[in-house]
Amino acid sequence: MAFTKHHLLRIADLTSRDIELILSTARSLKGISFRSVKKVPALRGKTVLNCFFESSTRTRTSFEIAAKRLSADTINFSSGGSSMSKGESVLDTIRNLNAMQPDIVVMRHQSSGLIGRIAAQVPQCHFINAGDGMHEHPTQALLDAMTIQEAKGKIRGLRVVILGDVTHSRVARSNILLLRKLGAHVRVAGPSTLLPPEVDALGVTHTTSVAAATEGADVVMVLRIQQERLGEFAFPSVREYARYYGLSAQHLERAAPHVVVLHPGPVNRGVELSPDVADGSSSLILDQVENGIAVRMASLYLLSGVREPVQ
Ligand code: CP
Repeated sequence: MAFTKHHLLRIADLTSRDIELILSTARSLKGISFRSVKKVPALRGKTVLNCFFESSTRTRTSFEIAAKRLSADTINFSSGGSSMSKGESVLDTIRNLNAMQPDIVVMRHQSSGLIGRIAAQVPQCHFINAGDGMHEHPTQALLDAMTIQEAKGKIRGLRVVILGDVTHSRVARSNILLLRKLGAHVRVAGPSTLLPPEVDALGVTHTTSVAAATEGADVVMVLRIQQERLGEFAFPSVREYARYYGLSAQHLERAAPHVVVLHPGPVNRGVELSPDVADGSSSLILDQVENGIAVRMASLYLLSGVREPVQ
């Protein structure tokens, strides 16, 4: 089955077959990272340009590693130190970088929807959305799905809780879309000020009680408070948030047997997640990071249109 999408911008654009293709490709590529020589020639001669206009540790590093493991040439552009300080716009910046003939542009920007608008104006290149404002973070949702499938053997029918600052989270938005496409039951939880007004239209159940949310859950996905996107205080204090909305080991006692805990990172220990849970046997946080490489290798490989099988 071929991947027919020109860009990877939104989970909303993908069918469940597209998602399954990316996940199965990621599973087949994962082993490359555990070989003594962690490199295959699949994308030799291709150029991947990482353009991050917002900070990142996991996404940026894993896209660079993923491209290098596939033998692509990788270039990292960051707005700091660029000619944007002289007034050049994001669109002009990308147009100029595109004139250098990259094959794939991986882009993160703080403005929701901007990457899609730029991709529409630079049609020669394949774009991957590495996170745009409060909109979507598709490869995060894909690596989360891969991690859940590895742990649970399936996604269909699982009870998945997304807990925390849902309103400002592109991770939550992409995960809700993906998990519902693959047949999971999604419940969101957090303070009412951090649940989106349109929550009823998302096809999820919702509650402001962490205890009620986690009862019987198979998967708990915890989100950080997006302080950088909060226009005003949505709760009285971080201490109060931790007390009423932080996930603790006591909450997990009410969950389903073998519940697993995910967090996209960065984790604010002791705020949204207690340290014993972050480091405990239920935590799959570092498995998510590991799978990030495989999912990003799969995304680059499928978008590049290379047809030769990976050796
Ligand atoms: N999960 C995630 O997007 O992490 P980074 O911001 O470190 O890339």
